[in-house]
Amino acid sequence: MGDESHASEAVGREFAAEFRSFMRWVQTDTQVERNEVVSLIAEFLGATRARESVVTREWSSFEHVNLQTALNVWMAEEGRNVVVHGIALPPHFGGVTLQQLASGGALPPIQLCAPPLVDLPNGPGSTLACLQLALLLVSDPAGPYVLLVSAPREHERGLRIEVLGLPVSAAQAVVAEIDGLRGALNVYRSQLLEVVAFPHGGFDLRFMSVAPIERDGVVLPDQVLGRIERHAFGVAEHREALLTSGQHLKRGLLLYGPPGTGKTHTMRYLVAHMPQYTRLVLTGRSLHAVGSVTAMARDLAPAVIVLEDVDLVAEDRSFGNGSSPVLFDLLDAMDGAAADADLLFVLTTNRADLLEPALAARPGRVDVAVEVPLPDAAARRRLFEFYARGVSLQLNDEELGVVVDRTDGVTASFLKELLRRSVLESLGEQAPLVTAAHVSRALDDLLDSGQAVTRTLLGVGVDSSTSPSASLGPVPPSGRMRVGRWTAYPPRS
Ligand SMILES: Nc1ncnc2c1ncn2[C@@H]1O[C@H](COP(=O)(O)OP(=O)(O)OP(=O)(O)O)[C@@H](O)[C@H]1O
Ligand SMILES: [Mg+2]
Repeated sequence: MGDESHASEAVGREFAAEFRSFMRWVQTDTQVERNEVVSLIAEFLGATRARESVVTREWSSFEHVNLQTALNVWMAEEGRNVVVHGIALPPHFGGVTLQQLASGGALPPIQLCAPPLVDLPNGPGSTLACLQLALLLVSDPAGPYVLLVSAPREHERGLRIEVLGLPVSAAQAVVAEIDGLRGALNVYRSQLLEVVAFPHGGFDLRFMSVAPIERDGVVLPDQVLGRIERHAFGVAEHREALLTSGQHLKRGLLLYGPPGTGKTHTMRYLVAHMPQYTRLVLTGRSLHAVGSVTAMARDLAPAVIVLEDVDLVAEDRSFGNGSSPVLFDLLDAMDGAAADADLLFVLTTNRADLLEPALAARPGRVDVAVEVPLPDAAARRRLFEFYARGVSLQLNDEELGVVVDRTDGVTASFLKELLRRSVLESLGEQAPLVTAAHVSRALDDLLDSGQAVTRTLLGVGVDSSTSPSASLGPVPPSGRMRVGRWTAYPPRS
């Protein structure tokens, strides 16, 4: 019996010791460390300033790098001293507000640390270290006050700055000044950017590099390319004159035509030659973000907004908002943009038939629609010669004529592929020369019945009056390809 009671006493003592140590842990590790941040603020501000309202301003998460650019300039301004502390939150905790830090109530376990930074692109080949969760102790003529910078993290999507320690109007002035710098120093201005949609709304911007495309690399009938250029570049050149005579600058250009004829290629040529413009490229899901992208583009004007393959949303319906087709939202966003803003919308599609009813119902958005056609004989010759640059080609004029004849109805991308395959055909042989025989073999192969899928991938189908499965079947006996029937915009009767 004695042994047993000793044993249970020992267990009791051990438990009590552990409990005391637990209580100490609760009080030290959480209590003391949370006080560390809270008392830092309290001491810095003093009782009166700590009782001011917290003023918050929020931005979209893609503005993070711009906000940091602004903060870096703002913090370095003459007469301002800023001490930056990082705040560490355990994993899985949402966020913390400046109000919580000021009152010390309902705090998650936090501690001071070196400021956590995320390295974000601020140009096509550069990055900027940006604060993620940081407390800024500011001393300047407005007096001591604190800023809390919270940026998107694991469980927090928002980007915000909170101000404590100043009367409301002075706090507003602080965020307004930082926001003004953000707008003025916007790193996205005059850049080529891809808009990437987040799965649950919102978007991000990615810097894209521009491959230089020269005019002679865009093989289109002269009047077609000329028209496109006049609409894109012409307005830019005469901006001032147009504005003085009360003409609007906002314009919409639709490029339509069969797949593989160079709509995307032409768009790339345009954006490569408009370096003074902020160029935003939307495609697929990011087309849904056109409204907010257009609003942003106004601040970054002059701007080009590219809506690639708009037919992709022609049959989508948006949620809420009377579930209007997304295409209508898109056209409304184009219309909502200020008319005097130098904004160019470039829309591309190979399904003008799907677009046509929406464009007819919402007139005035697209002022020029240009058909990008299949290459005619002259264009096929130019394309062949263009893609043969740098290839040791031994083809006389007559042989080239045969190639041009045999490729009636193919797309530009087909001719590019033909050259590549001709080079492949020649590689097995002694001399690195591409001859008529190589081109002919490559062409036979591409026109072969077994290559129907390849041709479809290159944008060359068979007559659409046959069933879709027939497109995988043999080509017409002539050995020539027929090209899928194409509905033009406006539809030809
Ligand atoms: N007119 C052209 N001149 C020179 N090269 C071209 C032309 N058209 C197409 N190409 C070449 O073929 C490639 C594919 O063409 P592109 O992606 O521009 O076709 P698309 O008209 O946009 O087709 P889709 O309707 O499928 O989007 C281009 O990257 C380019 O290399
Ligand atoms: Mg395209």
